Amino acid sequence: MALTRRELLQWSLSAGASVAAGTTPLRAFAQNAGAPCPFGAALYLPDLEADPRLGREIAGHCQRVTPVSELKWTTSRPAPGVFDFAAADRIADFARGDGLAMHGHTLLWYAENPDWVSALSPSEAERVMADHIETVMLRYRDVAQSWDVVNEPIPDVAPSPEARRDSVWRALVGDDYVAQAFHRAHDIAPDALLVLNEYDLEFAIEHSPAKRDAFSHLVHELVDGGAPITAVGLQAHLRGGWPIAKDELARFVEDMRALGLAILVTELDVMDHELPGPLAERDALIAAQVEDFLAAVTASGPLHSITTWGLTDKFTWVRWAYPRADGRGNRPLPFDENYAPKPMFEVIDHYRSMP
Ligand code: G3I
Repeated sequence: MALTRRELLQWSLSAGASVAAGTTPLRAFAQNAGAPCPFGAALYLPDLEADPRLGREIAGHCQRVTPVSELKWTTSRPAPGVFDFAAADRIADFARGDGLAMHGHTLLWYAENPDWVSALSPSEAERVMADHIETVMLRYRDVAQSWDVVNEPIPDVAPSPEARRDSVWRALVGDDYVAQAFHRAHDIAPDALLVLNEYDLEFAIEHSPAKRDAFSHLVHELVDGGAPITAVGLQAHLRGGWPIAKDELARFVEDMRALGLAILVTELDVMDHELPGPLAERDALIAAQVEDFLAAVTASGPLHSITTWGLTDKFTWVRWAYPRADGRGNRPLPFDENYAPKPMFEVIDHYRSMP
């Protein structure tokens, strides 16, 4: 019988145990509660090698895994015509071994492109892009049925709905590179979930409203133009202390669903460097912001999946990208560095289990 939310919170706050010690894993909750929404975590191969427990915990709690770096071009494409799948194969084999789906991240991005890409001619870039999408998607078609086809197409400062982020792909292929990538991906895997993935769409302040509008404009342009996009990815790298645009975000998600698109939370974590130091207070603020976000994005229906950008505070990019001035460890993820669940875990599980 599934636990109530309050029981789960009391359990999670008191539990020092973990999957390895027999704690009922999220996965079991999901199975018990009949949760329709898979839970995933991003995984960086050196972290898996550094701590085998990470693999056990992900296997116990998750139904999906996203490679952090292993499918990026700087890792998988060392030279023209050369593919290095060694690292990505290790993540894929880990997923296969534990019956997890792998989310393909990412086919095209403005970042992490090796220098040789910039030296391509426009026609070579179109061919190289198409060849990459085909080769990578076919290699992992057994374990990856969802793909970030284009990652982060909108600039942080989006002065107009037509704003598009500069990238080597846009420079060489033109604005049409996004639609071309989706058409190619669909040709290779017609049944795959093809995702346009973006960050900073979630907030009420700063550049987020304009970025959300520009992203929406691009999605509508793609759909109106017949591009086979089937999902949007909200990365949800939540900035602690920034208010969630609850109503506007709920309307944005409803609009995306009206286009027939699935909604994925792809990289959830909370950058807590500007939040108070005391752990219980900080964890509560983090859980409250995650609640605001998940309530908004589920107001019009269930999510396809929720993936956090790591499982445990022991392994998080936030630690080196957004270190705290007080020197305390960051706490951006559902489990602490000893794999004990935090209030954020309970909030995620609640919204995973919604009908
Ligand atoms: O593992 C090496 C280490 O051996 C070396 O000493 C160190 C210094 O050079 O680098 C380490 O690799 C770093 C790797 O993260 C692991 O920490 C790379 O330099 C660094 O570039 C890489 O950054 C990753 C970044 O994407 C760029 O690929 C972050 O971990 C990763 O969290 C971040 O993830 C992105 C998503 O792909 C897209 N959405 C935003 C998200 C956060 O920026």
